[in-house]
Amino acid sequence: MKILFLGDIVGPPGVTFVKRALPALVAHEIIDLVIANAENASNGAGMTPGVYRQLRQAGIDLVTMGDHIYKRQEIVALLEKDERICKPANFPEDAPGHVFALAPARDGTSVAVLSLLGRTFMRPVDCPFRAADRVLKTLEGQARCIIVDMHAEATADKYLMAHHLKGRVSAVLGTHTHVQTADEQILSPGTAFISDVGMTGPYDSILGRRIDRVLSTAVTFVPSAFDVASGDPRLAGAIVEVESATGKALSIRRLMVDEAGLAVLPPVAPAHFPEGG
Ligand SMILES: [Fe+2]
Ligand SMILES: [Fe+2]
Repeated sequence: MKILFLGDIVGPPGVTFVKRALPALVAHEIIDLVIANAENASNGAGMTPGVYRQLRQAGIDLVTMGDHIYKRQEIVALLEKDERICKPANFPEDAPGHVFALAPARDGTSVAVLSLLGRTFMRPVDCPFRAADRVLKTLEGQARCIIVDMHAEATADKYLMAHHLKGRVSAVLGTHTHVQTADEQILSPGTAFISDVGMTGPYDSILGRRIDRVLSTAVTFVPSAFDVASGDPRLAGAIVEVESATGKALSIRRLMVDEAGLAVLPPVAPAHFPEGG
């Protein structure tokens, strides 16, 4: 089974590029399930129910968030009732949302995803290690294929989680820094890992935001609106091949698709509807 995991989708450029690229990519790579981190999907911070629906229609099966989860409050009701999206599992118990999300892959295998926030240079949260242990206990008997979105600033936080969970989950995949790393690997006995899968959004930017605005604020200390940039949209993520019966990861491959890469993807054949049907 092949699982595609997309890193932080940023603003309309990210959402639009997902809509354009995902169907062709899923068909070309023969993907069985798609997971995406969408904490920046609505104008760079948070996600509205409308954008969530667009992402689901584009082919994303499961959605994770991060530190920006509640920036758009309209999402709270959806987080409480929808089984396909989860909050960081080490958030307070009273924070709205489920601690994992679950969906069947194309071959019927149940796949679960959970998200954890790191504790270095981030808002204080509960222990991510113990939170992961608790969720894995709940998932016993429900899913063997488990993907962990490790949403953290520090690479060490991500490595520590990968080693804490190796052999117990299919993959620990990093998000939040918006920069793809080149350290993808399989930790014995079968957990895929990468420090960060990268950003799905505009790359002519500072991590998705307009260069002029972020730079002028950095230089002058005068605040400005960090609007989402628009140039050079790309889709970034990783494809993890998992043994359905055991949940063991067999391989991990980094992925970065830009406009040129999208242009050479074989187009998806339009659905055929018999005349009069
Ligand atoms: Fe992000
Ligand atoms: Fe984040």
